[in-house]
Amino acid sequence: MVLWSTALGALLLAIVGYVCLMGLLRQRRPQEPPLDKGSVPWLGHAVAFRKNMFEFLKHMKAKHGDIFTVQLGGQYFTFVMDPLSFGPILKDAQRKLDFTEYARKLVMKVFGYQSLDGDHQMLHSASTKFLMGQGLEELNQVMLDSLSLVMRDSKGQKLEAGCWYEDDIFHFCYKILFKAGYLSLFGYTKDKEQDLLQADKLFKQFRKFDLLFPRFVYSLLGPREWLEVGRLQRFFHKMLSVEEGLEKDSISNWIAHMLQYLREQGVAGAMQDKFNFMMLWASQGNTGPASFWALIFLLKHPEAMRAVREEAAQVLGEKRKPFDLDVSVLRHLPVLDSVMEETLRLGASPTLLRVVHGDQMIKMASGKEYLLRSGDTVALFPYLSVHMDPDIHPEPTAFKYDRFLNPNGTRKVDFYKAGKKIHHYTMPWGSGVSICPGRFLALNEMKLFILLMTTHFDLELVDPDTPIPAVDPYRWGFGTAQPTHDVRFRYRLRLSE
Ligand code: HEM
Ligand SMILES: *[C@@H]1O[C@H](CO)[C@@H](O)[C@H](O)[C@H]1NC(C)=O
Repeated sequence: MVLWSTALGALLLAIVGYVCLMGLLRQRRPQEPPLDKGSVPWLGHAVAFRKNMFEFLKHMKAKHGDIFTVQLGGQYFTFVMDPLSFGPILKDAQRKLDFTEYARKLVMKVFGYQSLDGDHQMLHSASTKFLMGQGLEELNQVMLDSLSLVMRDSKGQKLEAGCWYEDDIFHFCYKILFKAGYLSLFGYTKDKEQDLLQADKLFKQFRKFDLLFPRFVYSLLGPREWLEVGRLQRFFHKMLSVEEGLEKDSISNWIAHMLQYLREQGVAGAMQDKFNFMMLWASQGNTGPASFWALIFLLKHPEAMRAVREEAAQVLGEKRKPFDLDVSVLRHLPVLDSVMEETLRLGASPTLLRVVHGDQMIKMASGKEYLLRSGDTVALFPYLSVHMDPDIHPEPTAFKYDRFLNPNGTRKVDFYKAGKKIHHYTMPWGSGVSICPGRFLALNEMKLFILLMTTHFDLELVDPDTPIPAVDPYRWGFGTAQPTHDVRFRYRLRLSE
């Protein structure tokens, strides 16, 4: 017994020693970017990084410049901070930068889903078919119907026109977008009221998972939280099980098509349930929070609210029946488009990761070349290097609703850095092989919500002087930002004339 534990102790020590030594031994080779291992063996800069990725990277950029390698939990990440140098990484002509390897591990850990080789390709082709073009037109109508259903329902009762209701804005937006999005994609049964109650139940658990998510990914959960995550995973696998789905008659083509593919590949039912959970997360984790930012920016910027309402009045024309609008109007709302683009510039902070397969050179826009080491990960954090660059976007922290409008009212697409036209002037959806396949649906969904909120409701902050809340620093790099605290507001369904 004693011998055993001694042997085990020695082994552990050897492993820990080896791992630390590997870190200590790593030296910057000629032509490699500046290397910053941090002062803690193995962990490197992990603590500062997880606490506030934005501040950490700002500090590193000031210290090392446009490209540098940092150690985070035994792994080495090379951050490229100059957006004029993103091209070769995103295009990856040599196919030596791999997105799927990292994604595979992550979805296994978070959703329990074991990816197949063809998944990524299948996901993007299903999305091209059903989340874009004609498929999207159909889904827009379903989304509008779902939004009207959900927005007119207040705790199981019909919202009364002319009556003020009070709520927390973030929670309100997230709940509505989640329920409408979930029902549109995963389908209805014959009993709509029951569907609404089920969506409500799902949202409550979704939020619990959402709150644990960043620390779950970083493996920082305490024992009790760990158990809770396991419980939540099982809950979602059960609620989204493909057997339950059989009772639904209006599951979206997008989900139905992908599940059919998995069946054809011989994937077990239990694994399909996990796939559903992953798709629920991907499709519902960002639109709610992003709509919150859009709505609070409008409430705090009356000139923007006025412009959005004027445009809507013009495009929608004479008032018809409430919640009855032609979804084709979505294509004719440049002011609202600019509001959404500006909202995502300020609120979306994805991290793009690619594993380096084989040593290779990267040429920066400056002409300097650097060696990327095989096995390291290349990372982009466009929120800092693009969205907040004052050269590309003057006064980057300010919300300017018309930032993406030309003086003649059309969409503005010309942005410059160091006098050079820049292709990636915002990157809320990521880019390249891993670009969000749901981006067009997401935009339409959020635009419909904001359109309905601003044209069918009177809205006001309970305390008009309350500032826009700060961003929760733990979520940097995880998609859409969330506020540190919620804000009270009032809404009233307008009496239809
Ligand atoms: C404001 C809303 C949204 C934002 C900001 C957003 C952002 C993103 C980003 C940045 C990625 C890439 C992640 C990476 O590179 O690892 C991504 C992936 C993805 N998104 Fe979205 N998304 C949104 C809404 C949606 C919606 C509504 C859907 C589906 C209906 C969706 C489906 C997906 C899927 C399936 C992936 C994984 C793609 C892959 O593995 O290649 N997203 N999203
Ligand atoms: C509007 O202005 C932009 C840039 O200022 C220009 O590129 C575009 O052609 C103009 N469009 C129209 C319809 O005048």
